[in-house]
Amino acid sequence: MSNANNPLVGIVMGSASDAPTMHKCAAVLDQLEIPYEMMVCSAHRTPARAHTFATTAEERGLRLIIAAAGMSAHLAGVMAALTHLPVLGVPMDGKLGGGLDALLSTCNMPKGIPVGTMSMGSHGAVNAALFAAAILAGSDPALCERLKAYRAAQTAAIPEEVPPAE
Ligand code: RP5
Repeated sequence: MSNANNPLVGIVMGSASDAPTMHKCAAVLDQLEIPYEMMVCSAHRTPARAHTFATTAEERGLRLIIAAAGMSAHLAGVMAALTHLPVLGVPMDGKLGGGLDALLSTCNMPKGIPVGTMSMGSHGAVNAALFAAAILAGSDPALCERLKAYRAAQTAAIPEEVPPAE
């Protein structure tokens, strides 16, 4: 799945069950007009697909990878081991300890192969898209303006009034 012919961001997820969460990531990339591709690609169930995705990512024009996985979530680490592109990890929530298993598996990488780990679940999915935008905005002034406008709209949408007690 892709929203453009020349994607800059690759979104991979360990299972189709992660898709509802990661569509929230894709929606922000759509909003910021960042081209991406999206694929189910498991480090353990489809290791050859994961290997091919990561090792061809740079030559296919991707600038970074967003990898989402739950439970023993080694997908982001495997991606990072196989490419020099930046890899952002999104731990899926809702499993052991509310997703603590995936959070630790994604973030606690031993030195040498880093994964930029986001918060869990849909918050992390959205933040991964915004982090990707911030990385890409460094070499894309128009995207930088769209990202600033996104932040300004978000700020404007938060009223200062405290809602009444129920
Ligand atoms: C991980 O195992 C996936 O990323 C998913 O979050 C979790 C459970 O997968 P399913 O059993 O729902 O396919 O590999």
